[in-house]
Amino acid sequence: MYAGATETRSPPITVPMLRQFKQDGRKIVAITAYDASFARLADDADIDVILIGDSLGMVVHGKRSTLSVTVDDIIYHARSVARGSKRALRIADMPYATYPDPKTAFAHAARMIGEGECAMVKLEGGGPVIESIRYLVDREVPVCAHLGLTPQSVLRLGGYKVQGRGDAAAQALRDAARAAQVAGAEMLVLECVPSPLAAAIQADLAIPVIGIGAGAQCDGQILVCYDVIGISSGRRPRFVKNFLLGRDSVLDAFKAYVADARSASFPDAAHEYAD
Ligand code: KIV
Repeated sequence: MYAGATETRSPPITVPMLRQFKQDGRKIVAITAYDASFARLADDADIDVILIGDSLGMVVHGKRSTLSVTVDDIIYHARSVARGSKRALRIADMPYATYPDPKTAFAHAARMIGEGECAMVKLEGGGPVIESIRYLVDREVPVCAHLGLTPQSVLRLGGYKVQGRGDAAAQALRDAARAAQVAGAEMLVLECVPSPLAAAIQADLAIPVIGIGAGAQCDGQILVCYDVIGISSGRRPRFVKNFLLGRDSVLDAFKAYVADARSASFPDAAHEYAD
């Protein structure tokens, strides 16, 4: 049984390093993790960013959506991840309905940073959420925005579908991405959007754009850790790849994911959405 963090060679990832990676053309590799053991493996594989995602509601708790995840759930898992990870930058997901206005967002985000020992929080959506991003950034809470398919919108969207198709939807996404950057977001996750649109947003922004189902031209990639090793249940989205196939260990699978994402050989056409 694992009891602590291992020594790693690379220095801990800081918020300013993320933008520098983009400037240097070095791809950022991110993964979700929910416990100390997976966090340690992520560090050992040289993964840059660990997201304590509200996906834990589905992949850990077995729910049908992320909507029932609470701030306490994220903090519980984030503290476990913090015990396993010494290098990766840790991002806490703000759960559904925990950022209806800037002040409430700040109260919950401050807990993610303080009790959850994370360096950044992630908020889904544009529109009114932009004001909360600005409010958090002004109060020293680094923010990652999340646009495209935002799983917390599943009830309104009626399912998990590709976003940004058609001129109007693409323009709205480009505008929201710019607004998030202007509000002070340090990074943007783009989920399930056609690759040409993601590439245009990547080129538009100075902040790194991390894709999940958004093509290889993003500044980095993120995947759910259980998808990387092929143990997620249910319908497998197109962007998912099982890196454990043909390999002997979870660590080797994580290392293969890092190598392929850094060299932009993942995602390839089989894992992307066209216009
Ligand atoms: O909760 C999560 O795992 C996420 C990623 C899919 C980006 O938000």
